[in-house]
Amino acid sequence: MKQTNENMNKRESLIKDLTANIIDSAKDIVKETESQEVTKDIHIEVTNRLNYETNSLLNEVVTKLSPSIVDINIKEQPEGRKFERFGKNFRSQHMLMFVSVIILIITGMPLKFPEFGISKFVIISMLGGLENSTLIHRIGAVGLIIVGVWHLIYIIFSRVGRRDFFLMIPNLQDAKDAIQTIQYYIGKRAKGPKFGRFSFIEKFDYWAVYWGMIIMIGSGAIMWYKELFPKYAYDIGREMHSDEGLLATLAIVVWHFYNVHFNPEVFPMSWIWWHGQLTESEMKHHHPLEYDEIMKKESEEIINKSKSEGEN
Ligand code: HEM
Repeated sequence: MKQTNENMNKRESLIKDLTANIIDSAKDIVKETESQEVTKDIHIEVTNRLNYETNSLLNEVVTKLSPSIVDINIKEQPEGRKFERFGKNFRSQHMLMFVSVIILIITGMPLKFPEFGISKFVIISMLGGLENSTLIHRIGAVGLIIVGVWHLIYIIFSRVGRRDFFLMIPNLQDAKDAIQTIQYYIGKRAKGPKFGRFSFIEKFDYWAVYWGMIIMIGSGAIMWYKELFPKYAYDIGREMHSDEGLLATLAIVVWHFYNVHFNPEVFPMSWIWWHGQLTESEMKHHHPLEYDEIMKKESEEIINKSKSEGEN
């Protein structure tokens, strides 16, 4: 509560400052134009300038205050009902995947950048030499292969897995949402788009991993069993593995970590990978279209149930 009051005071004083700035700018422009003949053109110029100032200051307010607004809207609301977003099966896949990928990055990157001091520290001091480090890399690889096969089985044979896979397929609405999000970030729209179960950002995350896994497992297997392949296949495989490995690491550290750790809405971390649940306010805020769908379905079920009870 104390935090909320502080945030409100901060907001008020910032808005006062910004408003004073706008008025000052307007006064300056009016002074400049006093000596001149006030023509229609100047009037339009002054109005445009004021519009521009108000717009950019408003953007500044929104940017500076967004973490505190989110604080008030999401974190401090009573939690109410919980919605299960990810079931146990999917969460277990994700856990095995991140453990494997962390192992693969720690043991793979020093091979790509052997000249760095930290690479020598990781391979020699931490892991006890190259032999151990390549063995651990292969253990991580087996973990990733298991996740890949497990996920394929999940999206083919589980009802929820199949549903989520189809919902993950990008469509025209995602392109529109991406454009509207950019417009919102640069202040051209008052509100961002509303998302359903998966936003275009989450779809991008999913397909980047999907594609990355195919490349990493395929090229890694060629390197692992190089005696079965011609030399040029090994060279191509190594190049792909090395470059895609760096790209995957950067995608995880920059894109994925921002979305699930550093984004002010979830900082220091979204715990959904652990409990799989969203509160009602998180659901309304992040997936309003899915929330509406669930509500509609539930009320239809209630109506149908009471109808059939009335008939009996
Ligand atoms: C996120 C997943 C992975 C990352 C980030 C990763 C990263 C890397 C990197 C950076 C290298 C060094 C390449 C170079 O010398 O330039 C490497 C080597 C290697 N990787 Fe991976 N890798 C991943 C997954 C895999 C998988 C799934 C396999 C096996 C199927 C695999 C097998 C190998 C092998 C055999 C080598 C050659 C060095 C060695 O024998 O240990 N990697 N990896």
